Amino acid sequence: MIVILDFGSQYSELIARRIRETQVYSEVLSYRTTAEQLRQLHPKGIILSGGPSSVYDKGAPHCDPGIWELGIPILGVCYGMQLMVQQLGGGVERAERGEYGKASLYIDDPTDLLTNVDDGATMWMSHGDSVAHLPEGFELLAHTENTPCAAIADHGKKLYGVQFHPEVVHSIGGQALIRNFVYHICNCQPTWTTDAFVEETIREIRAKVGDKRVLLALSGGVDSSTLAFLLHRAIGDQLTCMFIDQGFMRKGEPERLLKLFREQFHIPVEYVNARDRFLATIAGVTDPEEKRKRIGYEFIRVFEEESKRLGPFDYLAQGTLYPDVIESADTNVDPQTGERVAVKIKSHHNVGGLPKDLRFKLVEPLRKLFKDEVRKVGRSIGLPEEIVRRHPFPGPGLAIRILGEVTAERLEILRDADLIVRQEINRNDVYHDLWQAFAVLLPIRSVGVMGDQRTYAYPIVLRLVTSEDGMTADWARVPYDLLETISNRIVNEVAGVNRVVYDITSKPPGTIEWE
Ligand code: XMP
Repeated sequence: MIVILDFGSQYSELIARRIRETQVYSEVLSYRTTAEQLRQLHPKGIILSGGPSSVYDKGAPHCDPGIWELGIPILGVCYGMQLMVQQLGGGVERAERGEYGKASLYIDDPTDLLTNVDDGATMWMSHGDSVAHLPEGFELLAHTENTPCAAIADHGKKLYGVQFHPEVVHSIGGQALIRNFVYHICNCQPTWTTDAFVEETIREIRAKVGDKRVLLALSGGVDSSTLAFLLHRAIGDQLTCMFIDQGFMRKGEPERLLKLFREQFHIPVEYVNARDRFLATIAGVTDPEEKRKRIGYEFIRVFEEESKRLGPFDYLAQGTLYPDVIESADTNVDPQTGERVAVKIKSHHNVGGLPKDLRFKLVEPLRKLFKDEVRKVGRSIGLPEEIVRRHPFPGPGLAIRILGEVTAERLEILRDADLIVRQEINRNDVYHDLWQAFAVLLPIRSVGVMGDQRTYAYPIVLRLVTSEDGMTADWARVPYDLLETISNRIVNEVAGVNRVVYDITSKPPGTIEWE
């Protein structure tokens, strides 16, 4: 294992993912982790992340100086390197000129860390401080035009530092550097593979659960589906999958989900038809937050009732992922007390918000995985591509894509329009180019004309976005012909709609969903 100590960099997770791409397990821990705690974890290497501070700032995060004596190879990245230099007696200064963006790396010592990195390779820089003089025992490995010390090493103690960010894609040769560190300097073996994960996780689930019963709330997304597959393989019919149909799914999806699980995967699913209850609970509600809240509460009530009816259960399976559990420097530690703050469990959000005080023990087999690793695991245990690569779908479903009051009639209108969007996106083969593609129904009406008749009906908003992670997004530049087909079909085929508009707002300032 390689441990990444996080000093508040936006790239700490990315470093972890890059390490894992070399099939070596990595974890992100707070910079406050002590040398003793690290010793007990037996990592083969440690990476100090970048961070927004200057080492001389008051309150700048420092690591336990004991880590330099552990005898474990350490790579400091950006702030991590400056900290290493400062703590070991070298000097760091505010650079005359900071360096932001691409820079050419000129290599002075092409051995271990920089093996297979080309002289002049482009590396991504983002720093205002620079190393001015090296601590004793250190040598220069590379420089750039503005940064004399761009890569340094104490070969004897296996301490390394780079001023640039090898983890970002713009750094050509960055992954080669990471591989050098992981394999040649830390002597790691490529054991973090999907097959090994599946085998080990199944063993762990069996050991933990024993002969007890486990409940899983299935939503049909890749996380809960992968979870269902893993658990079913591990404990068979000790697992109960429950699918609560709130009535806000896309056309045909509940039926499709049940068919896939029951007939194709041979995993039994308890189907709970709660459509009327959910519609009743938001009847007349137009405020988006109130809608979400009521759906959340209703979900909890149905979940509790149904788990009592089907139970008792000892464990609840949760699709918690690694980004939710990362103990990161600035997000999960209370800045006042330094205490770890309770980790929020995002999957709750996915199934509509389960309460924290449920009397279940948790089983969370995906908690070590990043989303792309969940997809790999899902694929390897037999989930079909239609689930593995499915677009995200919000927990409250179509209810938050109907602005204004949600009624059975308006749900039908949106479902029909949404189906046309999905059909045309698939037919034109752009599904996988998009992060999400859907229709939104507005509560206003506008005038149109169809066959010499005046119409006065609802508009549909078409929302097609590209994104890496849902945090930022852009509207998709799809062909006009595709927009035209979707618009024509919706206006012609969906009664109650006479106009289609295309949302050309990015996120920020917009959000992906309309509520
Ligand atoms: P926004 O609209 O905030 O959405 O740009 C970002 C991403 O999150 C999804 N989303 C949700 N997912 N429960 C979920 O599981 C929710 O309540 C929820 N609200 C938004 C949205 O579809 C997009 O992918």
